[in-house]
Amino acid sequence: MGTKAVEQIETRRNAILDRLKWRYAVKAYDKSKKVSAEDLETLEEAMLLAPSGFGIQPYKVFVIEDPEVRERLKPAAYNQPPITDASQVLVFAYKKTITDADVDSFIERIADVRGQSRESLQGLETAVRASMRKSVESGTIETWSSRQPYIALGFLLETAAMLGIDATPMEGFEPEKVNEVLGLTDHSAVVIAAIGYRDHENDWLAKLPKVRKPKHELIERI
Ligand SMILES: Cc1cc2nc3c(=O)[nH]c(=O)nc-3n(C[C@H](O)[C@H](O)[C@H](O)COP(=O)(O)O)c2cc1C
Repeated sequence: MGTKAVEQIETRRNAILDRLKWRYAVKAYDKSKKVSAEDLETLEEAMLLAPSGFGIQPYKVFVIEDPEVRERLKPAAYNQPPITDASQVLVFAYKKTITDADVDSFIERIADVRGQSRESLQGLETAVRASMRKSVESGTIETWSSRQPYIALGFLLETAAMLGIDATPMEGFEPEKVNEVLGLTDHSAVVIAAIGYRDHENDWLAKLPKVRKPKHELIERI
């Protein structure tokens, strides 16, 4: 590889890490700045592209702009300012149970997108159905299902950082109350993300360095 190509790769590596160092869990948002429709579209696509167990995507993401809904969500999230001040609030809600009908529409979707027959997908259908039924019967389905949206959250946070959009992941809320505000019954809120633009002057966290463990404590090469 030529010197120029090596330099380009190095620049790209640094650019990625710079974006990730730039991001932090913003506490104060600039209320006047809105995420553009194009950027929002990209963030939604990024979440859609997140992987999930079997690919079944057992969750929904509610993108909330409505100020009135956000006013009602705020007390359910211990009055955290990003709920009302950010550009949008995203509520990730996992499906509380996975039924045979869910598996059926999942398999149908594969058949449709890939132009495959249902018969050719019989093996997969049987395996997914068995796995889901086992999780429902053993009472672990919610543990499994509620983990999946976190991958989409990760994709959202990373993509937002790459686009220079701020985000705040939040677990500080009462799920039952959020479910009530959004009228959720089959799904349950598990994590929230606010997106928008930081109010650098008024955010106490903006000027503080990022705190992480020493790398060797987190990552061990074997
Ligand atoms: C799953 C999850 C839940 C979080 N919940 C909240 C929250 O409710 N409120 C908040 O201000 N920050 C919340 N955070 C932000 C973390 O405190 C923050 O990501 C962590 O301290 C690392 O700092 P940084 O993201 O600024 O680099 C949460 C982060 C994650 C990943």
